[in-house]
Amino acid sequence: MGRPFEAIKITDRVYWVGAIDWEIRDFHGYSTDRGTTYNAYLVLADRITLIDTVKAPFVDQLLSRIASVVDPSDIDLVVSNHSEMDHSGSLTRIVAAVGPDEVFASEMGVKALAAHFHDAPEITAVKDGGSLSLGSMNLTFIESRMLHWPDSMMSYLVEDELLFSQDGFGMHLASCEIFADEISECVLDWEAAKYYANILLPFSPLVTKLIAKVEALGVPIKIIAPDHGPIWRKGVGRIIESYGRWAEQKPSKKVVIVYDTMWGSTAKMAHAMADAVSACGCCPRVLKLRSAHRSDVATEILESGALLVGSPTMNNQMFPTVADVLCYLRGLKPKNLVGAPFGSYGWSGESVAQVGKALDEMGVELVSPGLRVQYVPDGAALEECRDLAKLVCDRIS
Ligand code: FEO
Repeated sequence: MGRPFEAIKITDRVYWVGAIDWEIRDFHGYSTDRGTTYNAYLVLADRITLIDTVKAPFVDQLLSRIASVVDPSDIDLVVSNHSEMDHSGSLTRIVAAVGPDEVFASEMGVKALAAHFHDAPEITAVKDGGSLSLGSMNLTFIESRMLHWPDSMMSYLVEDELLFSQDGFGMHLASCEIFADEISECVLDWEAAKYYANILLPFSPLVTKLIAKVEALGVPIKIIAPDHGPIWRKGVGRIIESYGRWAEQKPSKKVVIVYDTMWGSTAKMAHAMADAVSACGCCPRVLKLRSAHRSDVATEILESGALLVGSPTMNNQMFPTVADVLCYLRGLKPKNLVGAPFGSYGWSGESVAQVGKALDEMGVELVSPGLRVQYVPDGAALEECRDLAKLVCDRIS
């Protein structure tokens, strides 16, 4: 009888031994419509080395895949590139099961793992630029603080020119196809952008610095093996270039119109604006919040130039779904956006000012204090919506 889970060969001496999470649909508030993977890698050097582990419930899958290549007790070394529990959740169980000679993490990683797992094994701290001999192969460590957590680092396998990039260059995508070049580019482009927008966007200046730092090292990168989603053995330059572009947050002629509505009036305003945006030669994206997830809104905003946010007033407040998305977006620190609030109201109409304040605090440059319409917009009011959209388009064209 075959083993239930098999490792997949990446290079002659590196195997993928991670886990596929087909069912997950919510990753700490991020909608994972296509599931995800928790990637771990086995390096068959003289000193057999495991790079990262998997989320705790998937430890048996990890052990099974390792066992399809080597006896797990033959593992000599374990490297933890990132302490978040989707990668470290099974670390203590793996260490107990395989009994490695040594476990490595960054200096911040040692502290973070100790704070997570109060029975954490002894872990040796490695420094930025430090190296580790695996006998026949060598690892070099590259700190990547805040990409995604303070402890994050990447490990470069010199002989295979392979970068184990932990969260960087990853995506939430469950797939039996382990290499990116086996998957549709449309899917890759959306999921990679979604990952960047929702996980790495607030740290964009550090992404720019990291790319420059890796370029300055002058080492060739033939393969990027992240901790989520497919491995880049082709298109390495393309994904690095995308990261460089996303980190810049250069505005485009895309206008994201996000709204919710109670009786359809704010929806009418949003649709009039979208039509005017299109007539101006810009690209509208209309997202109604009860059918668009906040993490998809963040993805659409990634390469846009403007953000229009519409909310009715309910009990003197902006609509709760609008408050949710504004809170979420504020944390992601998008840059280089112009925008304006809008919305329908019945008698008090506070929401537009509240949304405008939130946009201003988020750093969105307001082109107008916003547009309020009582009850249902008539033709003149819809014309004002179109004028506001044109004003926004003028600013980004
Ligand atoms: Fe995939 Fe920051 O963990």
